[in-house]
Amino acid sequence: MTTTTQATAVTGAVGTAHTRVEGRDKVTGAARYAGEIPFAELAHGWLVLSTIARGRIRSVEADPVLAMPGVLAVLHHQNAPRVTTDYMSITGTPDPTLAILQHDRVPYAGWPVALVVAETSEQAREAAEALVIEYDEEPHDVAFFAGRPDVYTPADSVVPTDEVKGDMEAELAASAVVVDVEYTTPEEYHSPLEPHAATAHWDGGRLDVVDSNQSTMWVAGELAQLFSLDPASVRVRSEHVGGGFGSKGVRPHQVAAVMAATVLQRPVRMVLTRRQMFSLVGYRSPTAQRIRLGADSDGRLRALDHHAQALTSTVHEFLEPSAYVGRVLYDADAHRTTHRLVRLDVPTPTFMRAPGAASGSFALESALDELAEKCGVDPIALRARNEPEVGPLSGLPFSSRNLLACFEDGARRFGWADRDPRPGLRREGRWLLGTGTAAATHAAGVGPSTAAVTAQADGTFDVRINATDIGTGARTALVLVAAEALRAEPGRVRVHIGDSDLGPAMFAGGSMGTRSWAWAVMLAARELRERLALGGAIPPEGITSRSDTSEAVGALAQQERHAFGAHFAEVAVDVTSGEVRVRRMLGVFAAGRIVNPLTARGQFIGGMIWGLSMALHEEAFRDSASGTHVGADFAGYHFAANADVPLIEAHWVDDPDPDDPVGIKGIGEVGIVGAAAAIANAVWHATGVRHRHLPIRPDRVL
Ligand code: MOS
Repeated sequence: MTTTTQATAVTGAVGTAHTRVEGRDKVTGAARYAGEIPFAELAHGWLVLSTIARGRIRSVEADPVLAMPGVLAVLHHQNAPRVTTDYMSITGTPDPTLAILQHDRVPYAGWPVALVVAETSEQAREAAEALVIEYDEEPHDVAFFAGRPDVYTPADSVVPTDEVKGDMEAELAASAVVVDVEYTTPEEYHSPLEPHAATAHWDGGRLDVVDSNQSTMWVAGELAQLFSLDPASVRVRSEHVGGGFGSKGVRPHQVAAVMAATVLQRPVRMVLTRRQMFSLVGYRSPTAQRIRLGADSDGRLRALDHHAQALTSTVHEFLEPSAYVGRVLYDADAHRTTHRLVRLDVPTPTFMRAPGAASGSFALESALDELAEKCGVDPIALRARNEPEVGPLSGLPFSSRNLLACFEDGARRFGWADRDPRPGLRREGRWLLGTGTAAATHAAGVGPSTAAVTAQADGTFDVRINATDIGTGARTALVLVAAEALRAEPGRVRVHIGDSDLGPAMFAGGSMGTRSWAWAVMLAARELRERLALGGAIPPEGITSRSDTSEAVGALAQQERHAFGAHFAEVAVDVTSGEVRVRRMLGVFAAGRIVNPLTARGQFIGGMIWGLSMALHEEAFRDSASGTHVGADFAGYHFAANADVPLIEAHWVDDPDPDDPVGIKGIGEVGIVGAAAAIANAVWHATGVRHRHLPIRPDRVL
């Protein structure tokens, strides 16, 4: 089942299944989350969000609300503390979304227009709902559709917008088989178990923020810039986080908490409601994607053209880079991947688990299945035929690429060899049955981090690193990595994380967290073990070794670094209701050395469930008249619940990263990539009908 690469000298360290070290605290309630930590003199803030989709604030009628019970302050654009917008955010450009209560402009429905602070959360909410705000409304445009004439080419940011090689039209003309199809994906929303929450207070001249985020360093750095503070005078802690996956960076509520704490000189807590999260924490942009594939009759690709349109706001630019996956997965004589954006009067989208790759792989991996059908080639054989030797556009070697090993292992486990490729043939009562497959890939990156490991006189160890465990099991993985490097039993290792005072470290994102932190912990722990091997007594303060991976990470050779995977799904489609039920899913991944098989399996399966949810359920409806959502809550926005999720298996093949000191690649995101396509391809196999618009709702199936 599980393969480990390096023999470990310690029983029960890397490669061995471990429950979460903080698991008992979490299930008994001893672990406290950002919205639960007690503070004396705590006040509570509530954001008032605009009800119009575009315009200006004419007036904020604060006086009646200030007379309500418990109300301490009403902050708005005329009286809120000033913040700077002239700073660099994590995406490399200033993000004016955080400059709340600074001006009278309303760029979208759900924009923060006032902040009410009161003695209790209930009083703050009641006053916020009673606050009268007059607007001068302007016409808005929230309509996202394929081929909008006002699209533009976004600035190169995380990935290049366009990559082109070869003569596309000539190769398409020379192709024996051509697939030319359009796909769409809807707005998809973050639904972490723990909503966003932050408490800010001034502690002896230092700003202290207890928060739920993916990086205390990121939040501390941006708050320091926004409020023009010395970074050393800002401390952010994020000990336990109930989910994140892209939405838990700096958001308006942390800024609001700091403003109110500054004005009142009291601790102020902000907790977002689910409804507020729909406009405050970002979402996955809808996409409209056109894919043109041209191939020889045996399926060899001559042309791969993937054009993706997404949206952004009028406030800030964010690109969902959906066409990126084709740059990694397949070569073609002519290869073109392009992105365009349209600016609408909506909130700015953001990172969501496998940004771009999740939405783009639905389109590309569905199109590959359509090509396989047209060529009469097995979908796995088609992918094997188009396996590139080097990066299709970069020409760089792959650090390792075990995609075909995933397909081989998955096909064997799933029973793919027995599959009749013809669609619409298998019936069981009112159900039509089908199976599908798709490839997965995600970038395997790493970022610089620092760590400190201390040997204590009692034979235990303390690891200090500013990691964040958003629920992935990162804390436990770091215990195992340290234990292996120290040749110590995991029970003797304590890991301290989630505090900006611990120093710089990578954020929990981009599938880079555990890998980046493990690298730093491994280096510090190795050095410590060498020092301990020299002998001598350990002084009362212990012996500490420190590491900084900036140089090692910076010295990595230029290569294509990615994790890979293969998905398999079996679905049943109810011909009377149009309901699609996934009967089983199986994923096999090549994603580096697996540190903790128990939590790793949870990550892979979690990604696959999100992919199932994307395929069949998730979709937010934006009403064009009001510019806001219909059903912005868990009743109106359905994501996969237990009853929707069948038996899911996740396995992995041996695939250690050759350049990583632990062999890790990162596993947080590859599980979602391609999962929706595998299900869509299975629906086609069941019914003979292609579904190119997500989610595959019963009304679309019928
Ligand atoms: Mo993420 S979307 O890497 O938090």
